Amino acid sequence: MTEVSHQQWGQVCGRGAVDLWVLTSPQVRVEVLTLGAIIRSVCSRGSDGQMQDVVLGYDDLEGYLSDQRYLGAVVGRVANRIAGGRFVVDGKDYQLDINNGPNALHGGLLGFNKAIWFAKAVEGGVQLSHTSPDGDQGYPGEVHVSVTYTLQGETLTAEYQAVSSKTTPINLTNHSYFNLAGQGAADIYDHQMSISAESFLPVDNSMIPTGEIKAVEGTPFDLRKPVLIGPRLKEVPGPGFDHNFCLSSPGDTWAERHAARVSHPASGRVLEVSTSQPGVQFYTANFLDGVTGKGGAKYGKHSSFCLETQNWPDAVNQPSFPDCLLCPGEKYLHVTRFTFTTV
Ligand code: GLA
Repeated sequence: MTEVSHQQWGQVCGRGAVDLWVLTSPQVRVEVLTLGAIIRSVCSRGSDGQMQDVVLGYDDLEGYLSDQRYLGAVVGRVANRIAGGRFVVDGKDYQLDINNGPNALHGGLLGFNKAIWFAKAVEGGVQLSHTSPDGDQGYPGEVHVSVTYTLQGETLTAEYQAVSSKTTPINLTNHSYFNLAGQGAADIYDHQMSISAESFLPVDNSMIPTGEIKAVEGTPFDLRKPVLIGPRLKEVPGPGFDHNFCLSSPGDTWAERHAARVSHPASGRVLEVSTSQPGVQFYTANFLDGVTGKGGAKYGKHSSFCLETQNWPDAVNQPSFPDCLLCPGEKYLHVTRFTFTTV
């Protein structure tokens, strides 16, 4: 049985109130904001029975309004990168704002993470909806989008839906940063990581996939069996993991699959992720650089990890990648589940 309650959390000048929704099951407590459909906290029990907040975030609304790192937020209209911010749909060229080197990242300067979503209670959770107007951040078509968070026992489910008035690329995810040790933990080096992927997408120097679908076998990206992340990070070229792991192949049917399992032996906490998306961006917070978070904590490089379930980055420009176009009359739908248990 999940209890659901809400209260006003703050006001954004000229834009209205931001509410905090609280979902409480016997095992897990989740806080969600109507700003950015943000997961503000997830408290789960360790083997010793102690509840700890295992996601990064801020103490107040100001923190979330000025955030540049997408802590806990739903990102869209297109999560991850589009090369040059450019694409062609129905023979028409589109140019998005460039906000990450030469590329467009995570929906643009004012993406879904900065919108105030409309919330309504549903059984065991909250449904957040948002309308993105035609031309929003350069994207075609008016898009009606919703994300429904429900909590059943140990499992937090995020279900995403969207419809569009014109053909548009779409790719929605949640950008929570996790550390299963709880608040105040400096890094994730003592976490054991596994990802159910036979292949990953190598990237160029602006982090756009090269087009190669590379087998993980014999590379540091082989996480099919649990790996201690600290030593493994030293083997990865560059500042850490920030890559799409392929959970299925282009053309595979829509199906929910196991994506990842992370455990933290010291606390006994375990996170399992499953999704109907064809990929997951495993990101080891390489660009966090001392951001001040909850309770004054400083979030640095490798302080946390993200498992951003998604379509493959730059799919709109790479015909061999899974289709990312939403046409009028179609419904975009995907589901991701986060399950918090102990070893
Ligand atoms: C994603 C990207 C990273 C970074 C973060 C946000 O995970 O892949 O490169 O941009 O979002 O800081």
